[in-house]
Amino acid sequence: MRIILIGPPGAGKGTQCQRLVDLLHVPHLSTGEMLRAAVRAGTPEGLQAAAYMTQGQLVPDPIIVGMVSRRLEMEDCRNGCLLDGFPRTLPQAATLDELLERRAMSVDGVIELAVPRDELVRRMLARKREDDDPEVFAKRITSFELQTAPLLDYYARQGKLASIDGLGTAEEIFSRVQAAVGRFERAARRR
Ligand code: AP5
Ligand code: MG
Repeated sequence: MRIILIGPPGAGKGTQCQRLVDLLHVPHLSTGEMLRAAVRAGTPEGLQAAAYMTQGQLVPDPIIVGMVSRRLEMEDCRNGCLLDGFPRTLPQAATLDELLERRAMSVDGVIELAVPRDELVRRMLARKREDDDPEVFAKRITSFELQTAPLLDYYARQGKLASIDGLGTAEEIFSRVQAAVGRFERAARRR
């Protein structure tokens, strides 16, 4: 299974992916985590990315696409993966389709975690990651609304979107996620 999780900052993409890893036994590819690791390691990519991340802006595509395509090449991604935070724009979605097509693969399903803004802010205030400053967080939400939300329509038109209520306990949300994965599995068997 190749599954994408889409949702605004703080929606619970990372939290649900951790649980999905145990269910599906496929790796969790979080572009945010990859970037934070590159920043910590002080690589040239990390140094370049940090300037955008601390401003709540998207990191330029050449960095992101290079990182994801190298990761998708790895052996452990052969049977599937969970994509968290990528794609984030329509051009990134088109690039992902090309990367997968070249490997005779495709996206099996997309899960949208829908969470209202006041709850996102509550979660952000309780966490305190470096980019969880209220002003930066507001910019990340705006970036989601303008650049990422159009992807929902892109995948809905392909019949691949499952929109899930992201309010409740992580456990409750995971039952909804599991139900969506079940639907993706049945659709994949029909193809
Ligand atoms: P990224 O790391 O992807 O951050 P994000 O999208 O802003 O999302 P978060 O990681 O903040 O939230 P999440 O949905 O994973 O929620 P989580 O499970 O942590 O990206 C960071 C930056 O990197 C971007 O701003 C951009 O600069 C750059 N970047 C990344 N990908 C890129 C790309 N493709 N292109 C360009 N730039 C890119 O949960 C949040 C909190 O809530 C946690 O504390 C958690 O414990 C808590 N929580 C989770 N579930 C619940 C629940 N049900 N109830 C209560 N609390 C909960
Ligand atoms: Mg995350």
